[in-house]
Amino acid sequence: MTDRSDDRSADQPGGGWSTEGLGYLQKKVARQRVFVVHPYVKDQPQPSISRSPEGRLEEAKGLAIAIEIDLVGGEVIPLRGIRPSTYLGTGKLEELKSFAANNDIDLIVFDCELSPIQQRNLERALEVKVIDRTALILEIFGDRASTKEGELQVELAHLNYQRSRLVRSWTHLERQRGGMGFMGGPGETQIEADRRIIADRITRIKRQLETVTRTRTLHRARRQKAPYPVVALVGYTNAGKSTLFNRLTDATVMAEDMLFATLDPTMRSIQLPSGRKIILSDTVGFVSDLPTMLVAAFRATLEEVLEADVIVHVRDAAHDESDVQKEDVEHVLAELGVNLDSEADGTPVIEALNKADLMVDEQRIVAENRAQRDEKVVTLSGLTGEGCDSLVDAIDMLLSVRDHRIELTVPYSEGATQAWLHANAKILNEEHGESGITYNFSVDPIAWARFKRKEENPD
Ligand code: GTP
Repeated sequence: MTDRSDDRSADQPGGGWSTEGLGYLQKKVARQRVFVVHPYVKDQPQPSISRSPEGRLEEAKGLAIAIEIDLVGGEVIPLRGIRPSTYLGTGKLEELKSFAANNDIDLIVFDCELSPIQQRNLERALEVKVIDRTALILEIFGDRASTKEGELQVELAHLNYQRSRLVRSWTHLERQRGGMGFMGGPGETQIEADRRIIADRITRIKRQLETVTRTRTLHRARRQKAPYPVVALVGYTNAGKSTLFNRLTDATVMAEDMLFATLDPTMRSIQLPSGRKIILSDTVGFVSDLPTMLVAAFRATLEEVLEADVIVHVRDAAHDESDVQKEDVEHVLAELGVNLDSEADGTPVIEALNKADLMVDEQRIVAENRAQRDEKVVTLSGLTGEGCDSLVDAIDMLLSVRDHRIELTVPYSEGATQAWLHANAKILNEEHGESGITYNFSVDPIAWARFKRKEENPD
């Protein structure tokens, strides 16, 4: 099954190579023309039996798009067996080579794990740059890591990966590969020098990681002082998290203050229609069969989920393999230490059955039935906006469960407190008496604690 949808004429320039910068793909220089292949051995159990090779190719293409390249297409390649030297057989190599030449392909992503030798031999045979699945995912993690620990874990994985790729007999392509920018020409001395540089960096990063891990508890404590409850969007790559994140942040009023120091582009504070303020956090997407080398880095980038007050599990409910993906996500969250049992004081999870606009009738009926029976299930489309109000209501409802009920008399002179209550609390009753206004209200405990702190220490 081949999807070679792009018809760019052959006379357009291909993407240039550069050795600057950190990334393998040098995306900032020129958009590279990329083709993705998913080779698999026929008649052999697949790593995840439930996923079709076509489904895996689609996922790999989605990942490639995430790093801002020009995706030309993709192809599933069934094999009778893996050739140790070049992974593919000679006939297929010839075919791919002329396809790459005719279509100005700069890079072929092999959606599998390649040994350094296989990678090098493939680059020679195909005369284009080749990367494997691990390198592709590393690139994405590098873009997404938002905590110090996440960045360090990704860099460590990157260096370990590169170390394993320092082999003799470099081709011109090896020299042109960007890498960390210090990979030079061929020769044993150069390789030895690179090895030493990498080893030194690994030692330094490991030391930094120890410090970061030690201070993590402190960091958590600080995060718990986040001014508002944190709602984290998690889910498979391509499930639609970022689209939903943008819709929710665009559709709602941004909270007025940005006091939360660690706020970054993947975290925004917003105000729900009820007046409740929350911090919405987007997270790195899950991928199937994560290469072992990347597990630690992935977990570190997901760390913020541990501090979430509510988790929204965004699912591409129109996807054929939606159920397998759901199991994967829940499994990893449980392994991360997220307590998903809301009965046992765990983190409440809302299941957002996304891409409703793409659901076929049968999928829609199943989704709507579930949503009707369970208030923690919502059918929606981040793209069209359908159902997004229900998601906001569900978040509000889950957070209101932990609201504090308070009765407080506020002197008439304390206008600021009265204004704060009206803006942030749900006022159930208010009575005017001699000493002031007695409010009966429910309020988010985090917002309330922060307000009290501010009142006590106005600076
Ligand atoms: P990662 O960043 O890889 O983790 O993906 P993501 O979960 O953030 O997905 P993203 O929001 O980038 O969406 C992936 C693709 O699905 C994009 O092409 C979106 O336009 C599309 N998409 C997202 N939500 C919907 C939806 O509700 N309906 C339809 N039809 N497409 C959607």
